[in-house]
Amino acid sequence: MDLDLDAIRAAARLLEAGRLVAMPTETVYGLAADATNPAAVAAIFAAKGRPSNHPVIVHVARDADLTRWASAIPDQARQLIDAFWPGPLTLILPRASNVPAAVTGGQDSVGLRCPSHPVAQALLKAFRGGQGGIAAPSANRFGRVSPTTAQHVIDEFGAPGAGPLAAVLDGGQSEVGIESTIVDLTRLATRGPVLLRPGRISAEQVEQVLGCALAASDTAAPRVSGSLDAHYAPQTPVALVESAALEGIVTRLRAAGRRVALMHWSDAASAPLDARLPAEPEAYAHGLYVSLRALDTQGADLIVVEKPPQDAHWQGVNDRLRRAAFDSAGVLEKLLG
Ligand code: TXA
Ligand code: MG
Repeated sequence: MDLDLDAIRAAARLLEAGRLVAMPTETVYGLAADATNPAAVAAIFAAKGRPSNHPVIVHVARDADLTRWASAIPDQARQLIDAFWPGPLTLILPRASNVPAAVTGGQDSVGLRCPSHPVAQALLKAFRGGQGGIAAPSANRFGRVSPTTAQHVIDEFGAPGAGPLAAVLDGGQSEVGIESTIVDLTRLATRGPVLLRPGRISAEQVEQVLGCALAASDTAAPRVSGSLDAHYAPQTPVALVESAALEGIVTRLRAAGRRVALMHWSDAASAPLDARLPAEPEAYAHGLYVSLRALDTQGADLIVVEKPPQDAHWQGVNDRLRRAAFDSAGVLEKLLG
């Protein structure tokens, strides 16, 4: 991809001036601000409508000095950084004392990620001489589906100048399509490394590098808004249905006069409003939010999603679908009623 370096430098100057910029990453688009500027970080929360006690990830350049952000960099962090950065992995580490509370949600940890997208890399290099930190949650309103194109961001917040955004950098459709894998390394002595959010980089890949198993998330884990049950959801209700039950349910819904949108990966059923995703987890994840957003604009009564296979390679996708369809049974009961 050709980089528009003038636009990237201009965006870096806007960030340095405390403004908000939409930044493409390989996972999803981020709503970016200078992580050392509490007023700029507060503007992220205001724009998203996000509770202020939710921490945001700090994005850093390839060769950034991590001791500016984290008070300790355990060996496990070094191993994961060597294996997966730049890339779709966020590490939760004990925070350095100068990191604003607005970034950490008042907790004593900080989330760090080095994104691989060339536009994000160039922006991080141009921003504060490559030693800054860019605070960026996904560029969507709180609880909604993350954006994977520049147009999605504009759909959420309006065009630059017309809303909270000073600029939108267009980096094409995000390659990964779901948010980064998050691994908590703040409780190594008591719990070991903990998987807070699954993503493209699988638990198995992380375990291979660390040489030990990842613990599952628990209530003592640092707060992760992506771990709320109802999250990543379109406005249209979503129901997750097994392949074998798909055709029967779609037929009954249509007989009950319901306008059904279908998102599927097999031939188990069809419907007039239909999005077909690949039967392969990485390609499915790449298209997931584009399809959910497209179906969400069709005025359907619900989006029926064919449940993907339940094996480890689909963990990130299944996690997002479970949250988008957190009340499948209730939704179906109401519409079939
Ligand atoms: O792929 C991604 O991670 C994208 C791109 C833009 O980098 N960002 C993203 O940000 O998904 P967000 O804020 O939508 O989700 C990040 C998650 C949140 O659930 C947040 O609670 C968690 O990371 N997080 C950030 N800092 C944390 C911390 N110090 N402790 C625990 N969780 C943290
Ligand atoms: Mg988010």
